[in-house]
Amino acid sequence: MSFTAAVVTVSDKGSRGEREDNSGDTLERLLKEAGAETVAREIVADEIKEIAKALRHFSERGGAVDLIVTTGGTGLTPRDVTPEATLSVIERQAPGFAEAIRAGSMQITPRAMLSRAVSGIRGCTLILNFPGSPKACEESFAIVRPALGHALEMLGSTGGECAR
Ligand code: MTE
Repeated sequence: MSFTAAVVTVSDKGSRGEREDNSGDTLERLLKEAGAETVAREIVADEIKEIAKALRHFSERGGAVDLIVTTGGTGLTPRDVTPEATLSVIERQAPGFAEAIRAGSMQITPRAMLSRAVSGIRGCTLILNFPGSPKACEESFAIVRPALGHALEMLGSTGGECAR
């Protein structure tokens, strides 16, 4: 299926232009391969308010994208607050995505348990947290991709306010 997506990269250095957004590029490529058009990219600092603002913006009624993926800020350092920002904006939880990513990634590296990523729904938009490295994004996206189309179909199903 075809759908729209926004990629939000969470990185202090990236937001100051001191680091290339390689993980954002990786996610955009993977989304394209999965049939998505990435209509927006944003790089924000590791600040709850900034992250939440971007997430609210891309899931605003009227101009919402179908899927927002974030990359970075899900670990254990004090600056890692992407999960808290995501939880502050979602209206319904969809924990299976984050659970599947952690479980699947544990087959690749025990460090997968360091990810505090969450997943949920705001309005008509599914929001998924991914880790910060391109390699981890690639591995994690491969885990959710088989269920993504059906998930977005259900979100937009049967004439509700999210019908596409
Ligand atoms: N998941 C996969 N699939 N592959 C990885 O290499 N790295 C882990 C984890 N999840 C990793 C992974 C590591 S080392 C960390 S610290 C956490 O993701 C959080 O990463 P982030 O703080 O960049 O979001």
